[in-house]
Amino acid sequence: MASKAPPQNLPLSQAITIAAQAIGEVISGRSLTQVLEELEPQERPIVQSITFDTFRRWTRSHALIKEFVPKPPSKPVEHVLAVAITLLLDRTDVAKKGYATHTIVNESVSACGQYDETIYAKGLMNAVLRKVSAALDAQGINRPDHNSVGESYFPPWWIANLRKNYPKAWQSICLQQSQRPPLTLRVNRRAISLIDYATILQAAQIEAESIEQVANVGLDAALVIKEPIPVASIPGFFDGLVSVQDAGAQLAAALLCPMTGERVLDMCAAPGGKSAHLLESADIDLVAIDVDRERLKRVSETFGRLKLSAAPGQTIECITADAAALGWWDKRPFDKILIDAPCSASGIVSRHPDIPFLRRADDIAELQGRQRSLLEAGWRVLKEGGLLLYITCSIFPEEGKDQAEWFMAGRQNALRLDAPGQILPGHLHDGFYYALFKKIGP
Ligand SMILES: C[S@@+](CC[C@H](N)C(=O)[O-])C[C@H]1O[C@@H](n2cnc3c(N)ncnc32)[C@H](O)[C@@H]1O
Repeated sequence: MASKAPPQNLPLSQAITIAAQAIGEVISGRSLTQVLEELEPQERPIVQSITFDTFRRWTRSHALIKEFVPKPPSKPVEHVLAVAITLLLDRTDVAKKGYATHTIVNESVSACGQYDETIYAKGLMNAVLRKVSAALDAQGINRPDHNSVGESYFPPWWIANLRKNYPKAWQSICLQQSQRPPLTLRVNRRAISLIDYATILQAAQIEAESIEQVANVGLDAALVIKEPIPVASIPGFFDGLVSVQDAGAQLAAALLCPMTGERVLDMCAAPGGKSAHLLESADIDLVAIDVDRERLKRVSETFGRLKLSAAPGQTIECITADAAALGWWDKRPFDKILIDAPCSASGIVSRHPDIPFLRRADDIAELQGRQRSLLEAGWRVLKEGGLLLYITCSIFPEEGKDQAEWFMAGRQNALRLDAPGQILPGHLHDGFYYALFKKIGP
């Protein structure tokens, strides 16, 4: 089972420098995914892991910076401090490298020495990290704080939204979203059965468990790996045996339930996770659309890696277009439609801990407008008797429940079918909203 060897590790000081710069870019408004994509392949895994953890530890590391640095440092120095303190907080975490204190201190000081903006702070870095590490050792580093709402950063408007909509659960939601997510796989059942793939994992001494359902919807291809490993080390990943996909996202194919010969539309397809799952489930005619040309390329790459191609007599089309504008439509209606709409992504913060830094309160109304246009357009191109599945990876009702209610209001030809509605983030899956509609008249 050939998998590419994991890339060589970068010296820690360099990883700290790049992670601190990546954090600066996110704070100035760029998505971490984009920033990471621009890195060299050997830089990406370690920088991603350090940066993600720094965002997950944000409130704690910044409280420590405030406590131990007398005068607010410049932003570049603050970011190196945040990274270094996160590494100190993670020293005893077995799932991580668990660098020794002196390594973290020395490498962070050396990271400071690499750039003009931070070179002046080498002495400060050394002194502060030594004090912080001593204080953490005295307190017991990983003392769990059950009253906390987690250590990730959430802006005040975000917290206010959750408090209002989930008066009992909002704290546990925030806590859950500060944790590292599980590594969940979707087995490509066209290539291998769940049982056979589980045997391959066992032979590779990778402990895994199947996830049989989420929100009472049965799953038949989901496996969670107990100790997360790099993607490059997942057996058969590059041979297309599996994909990495959250269990909550695997509900889409289960709910839409594509059947042989059906014409299926994915209106927001990139990077192709759910489309690929549909193709793994049945021989369908698929139209996969995305407005973002670059992202759409990843859909074909995903299909290529998984060796998914059109069955005889059927087609797979990938189209760059605004799906809501219908200029792309050939007037042939669809049996089934998936709208995995653009949204705040507030349900997937544990996988994308930069999201709370990037969203603004007024994004939500704008996203609602885009989601509604996609719903309207999808309904127009759906066959009578067809199904439309609306999904967001959000936990804000404005993008979920409110949208489903708006959609149903006054629409005589829509029947709402059973679907989970709001799924809150849990230890085995992210947060999603699912609504399923059937078109029962012209
Ligand atoms: C949540 S992501 C989709 C994830 C994808 N379904 C998957 O499972 O891999 C939303 C996608 O919608 C696309 N998008 C946003 N507005 C769109 C529009 N008007 N028409 C088509 N695609 C759109 C974005 O470029 C983005 O790739």
